[in-house]
Amino acid sequence: MIGVPMLNNGFKSQFCLVIALLIAIIVVKDDKLQSLAFSFDSTNTVSVSAGRHCVNSVCCRCPYRRNRNWSVLFVANDGVSASSSTSIMTAFHTVQGVICREVTNELPVIGTVVVLEATADAQEELVDECLELEEEKNEGDGTQKMRIAEGDPYGAVLWPAAWAVSNYLLSEPDLRDNLSSLSILELGTGTGLVSIAAAMGGAKRVLATDYEPLALELTRYVADNIKSNSNNNKDDVPLSKRIETQLLDLCALEEQPLPISGIDIVIASDIMYEPKTGIAMAHRAVEALRQNCRVIVGDSPGRPGRPAFLKTLRELGVDESVDFEETIGKTCSGPRHDLICGKDSTSVSETPQNLSVALLDLKPCMLLTT
Ligand SMILES: C[S@@+](CC[C@H](N)C(=O)[O-])C[C@H]1O[C@@H](n2cnc3c(N)ncnc32)[C@H](O)[C@@H]1O
Repeated sequence: MIGVPMLNNGFKSQFCLVIALLIAIIVVKDDKLQSLAFSFDSTNTVSVSAGRHCVNSVCCRCPYRRNRNWSVLFVANDGVSASSSTSIMTAFHTVQGVICREVTNELPVIGTVVVLEATADAQEELVDECLELEEEKNEGDGTQKMRIAEGDPYGAVLWPAAWAVSNYLLSEPDLRDNLSSLSILELGTGTGLVSIAAAMGGAKRVLATDYEPLALELTRYVADNIKSNSNNNKDDVPLSKRIETQLLDLCALEEQPLPISGIDIVIASDIMYEPKTGIAMAHRAVEALRQNCRVIVGDSPGRPGRPAFLKTLRELGVDESVDFEETIGKTCSGPRHDLICGKDSTSVSETPQNLSVALLDLKPCMLLTT
């Protein structure tokens, strides 16, 4: 890390851009370096760091990727973009060593909500780590198929059902009008959009869970650090205090009962990408219904766990007539690794588009057996 003495504010952005360009030229010649970061500390000193990862709150970054265009991104500490050599401008953060970009979502009542997604390079590293872990376990069968267990990278990006479930919580009259008296438990929270939206919408308590520590770190980071996620609660409790996080494997049915004490609603979005999570989710839904909770599940088109979920739900005594209904969701528009989201996936588009997402709203009375 190189410290550069205090600068006159008027020259700061130009100076940084020149430095960024100079160092970018050096980086292009050194394919061991993958990123550069510029940050301002409290004494107004600008620091330049280079390497695979930067320390928390990267403010200004010049990523270099082999065989691809490079860009200089300049974002001040408060998240305000200053200047850039390209049309792309965004703020980057490093959470648990993973470089993430901000993703903005527009939702009713609360407006803009920012969450963090792993960048394309960071997704590549997460996928590699996941494949390595799988290979260690299975002694590698040479295929490039992820069997998901430890190091699940899917929660490092946003999925379409998260927007749909958040929208439902904030616009369905009996939920929207009573949110301040409701406590919510989310399963498989991923980037945390639903939990953050519920908390910003004024939910009494939100408990975000996932079996991947990174997902919980992303949610925690966003709740604690992203200032633009305004807190419009009447009682002025800061967002960071409204959200709790907890590791929970939804498939560990025997070992980890749902932390359901005081919870009114259990929510889950886009977690049924394997039949086994579909089956586990049905058991979790019934576990919650038995304890008088409402259960809301969002699912993007074509997920393989959905038929298994519905079949198990019926076997466990939920009314046969209960089924998903189509609702409005949004495609996601950030970069996606091919092994996280296949090339032909309908979940991703260059700019967000409307996408039909399936939603199931289960109430305790729909459980016919006890
Ligand atoms: C496709 S992502 C969806 C994330 C988020 N809900 C969304 O809609 O953007 C699936 C999430 O479920 C989590 N997950 C998968 N299997 C799980 C399990 N057995 N227990 C808990 N979380 C799980 C993953 O870690 C990931 O965060």
